[in-house]
Amino acid sequence: MSRAVQAARRAAPSATETAFAADVVAGLTAKPKHLPPKYFYDLAGSALFDRITRLPEYYPTRSEIGILQDNAPAIASLFPAGCALIEFGGGSSRKARILLGAAATVDAYVPVDISGDFLQQDAAQLRRDFPRLGVHPLVTDFTKPFELPQAVAALPRVGFFPGSTIGNFEPHEACRFLRHAGAMLGQGAVFAIGVDLVKDPKVLYRAYNDADGVTAKFNLNLLARINRELGADFNLDAFEHHAFYSSAQNRIEMHLASTRRQKVRVNGTAFDFRAGETIHTENSYKYTIESFQALARGSGWSPLQVWTDELFAVHALVNQATDDR
Ligand code: AVJ
Repeated sequence: MSRAVQAARRAAPSATETAFAADVVAGLTAKPKHLPPKYFYDLAGSALFDRITRLPEYYPTRSEIGILQDNAPAIASLFPAGCALIEFGGGSSRKARILLGAAATVDAYVPVDISGDFLQQDAAQLRRDFPRLGVHPLVTDFTKPFELPQAVAALPRVGFFPGSTIGNFEPHEACRFLRHAGAMLGQGAVFAIGVDLVKDPKVLYRAYNDADGVTAKFNLNLLARINRELGADFNLDAFEHHAFYSSAQNRIEMHLASTRRQKVRVNGTAFDFRAGETIHTENSYKYTIESFQALARGSGWSPLQVWTDELFAVHALVNQATDDR
């Protein structure tokens, strides 16, 4: 490929890059300012999140993996023979591997993630470890409706949405997501979803305010990414990580607070910050077993089974859809 062609390819931003720029400008223009958490996971952000999952304070990943390991045969027994396992946000197949190892009859695996960085690499390793499994990674924003790869069109489908990423949605968005997923997975489909539980606020607070400041770095990396990819001039020393639990809304809120009055330029547009003004970067909703089952019922799914270690829950739902949604 010539240098000119390479430059032209680089100059044409992908749909994802254009969406990132538009979402950042819209979020910083809004009052109060906010940014979508799905943009945390560039290469640096994914590495920081990986460190978070190994922090002593951050129990969700350890809990969920323990629940999956302890109950993998029971969970996999719900999967129909020759099915396709569709994972929402499958940046790493670490959790899916636990289910794939216990299920004899999964024909195909479709990890769906907005960031393709790890997806292809991980797919190659998975093909080596599960030679009879069809691996069909899909780089797309799963928060919007999407088409499944042709290769799995004829297979019965099982959904897998681990990590309590569903907690990033507002409850009404989670409902819409579950309806879209139901339409795509089909009537009678099983959906396994990991959901963080409501618990002692002190435990929740510590999980998002770790002593080593890794979560703070993860949060601030969003500004670093905007600087890198959108030519912005955020001064990372002039923003600080705030995370707190709202018992009224059963959610952790993460913010980046401006330590002083300042002006920031993004792609030639200036944004003003008051001292103390925040950018709301993430909600992480927590559910009781009952409150999540109620949300599922209201979204076309029936609770089938739930496994928990008191900190975290893995729900199995079955799709009650009778028509297209
Ligand atoms: C991946 C969205 C489930 O909300 O706990 C971890 C992301 N943010 N620490 C979560 C996150 C700060 C995480 N989810």
